Amino acid sequence: MTSYPALRLRRTRIAPWSRALVAETVLTPSDLIWPLFVTDGSGVEDPIATLPGVSRWSVDRAVERAREARELGIPCLALFPNTPRDLRTEDGREALNPDNLMCRAIRAIKDAVPEVGVLTDVALDPYTSHGHDGLVDAAGRVLNDETMAVLVDQARVQAEAGADIVAPSDMMDGRVGAIRQALEADGRQDVQIMAYSAKYASAFYGPFRDAVGSRGLLKGDKRGYQMDHANSDEALREVALDLAEGADTVMVKPGLPYLDIIRRVKDRFEVPVFAYQVSGEYAMIEAAAAAGAGDRDALVLETLMAFKRAGCSGVLTYHAAHAARLLGA
Ligand code: PBG
Repeated sequence: MTSYPALRLRRTRIAPWSRALVAETVLTPSDLIWPLFVTDGSGVEDPIATLPGVSRWSVDRAVERAREARELGIPCLALFPNTPRDLRTEDGREALNPDNLMCRAIRAIKDAVPEVGVLTDVALDPYTSHGHDGLVDAAGRVLNDETMAVLVDQARVQAEAGADIVAPSDMMDGRVGAIRQALEADGRQDVQIMAYSAKYASAFYGPFRDAVGSRGLLKGDKRGYQMDHANSDEALREVALDLAEGADTVMVKPGLPYLDIIRRVKDRFEVPVFAYQVSGEYAMIEAAAAAGAGDRDALVLETLMAFKRAGCSGVLTYHAAHAARLLGA
């Protein structure tokens, strides 16, 4: 007697309509946050060599990108300034200038395209002459509590300029709570905090440091404050603390090598989790596609879907505009 398989899982895979019907996860432009690098001047597009296809934009051109985001259905932009070299100091005080590049970009974008959310990075690395995210002592160690006081003021200045989400990416202990308290005291209870909760000391940040001009400046490394990539339980402790301190949403960073962390965070806390598919990941996909090792569009969509499947509400990705176009926005 012939024996037939009781169930054929291939049955639902045969036709596109059927695959669409049983798909467990969806990816849409509304899952994307588009990181933009802002630079001085006007009418400027300044390509970044290690991030092929990504540029630094002057404020007026960044506003054009914001309009593009609106058209593509991308709900939010993440802004990063390439601070002019002569404004970078030991103490990163340009971060507190209400008229700095970041604040000018926030105001211009919120003015022109108020429907698009603006997320801002809270950390001192684009403003310090040593490239660290905080204040350093004579031995080169990043000082926690002294840094936190500056980050609080940086977040307030960004919120004052119109930031919708402030995103501390510095990994100082206690900063989410301190920023939340300050925003409340300023009457800005509607400004969200997306905590870079599980941010790992990573080799995947190289092109970003080129983009904000801190690579050549960085003294030492960031392992004294960013997480060790050997750890996973510790990420849950970081997330628990940030949520208790008032974070609305949390982030895991980098992205693809850390899908296990995303899944653990989602299962444990059931809060909106975001991934940052970082610059080095973007560069790897572009390099693979350029070398003929894979189809660019397919690689982009597969990796972004992987974040959704792992439990993400959304993804910060330099491929945001391209992906939104592929998704038929
Ligand atoms: C800095 C910051 C970094 C990134 C986002 N915010 C770099 C770093 O921590 O050195 C990296 C993003 C990327 O690589 O795309 N606070």
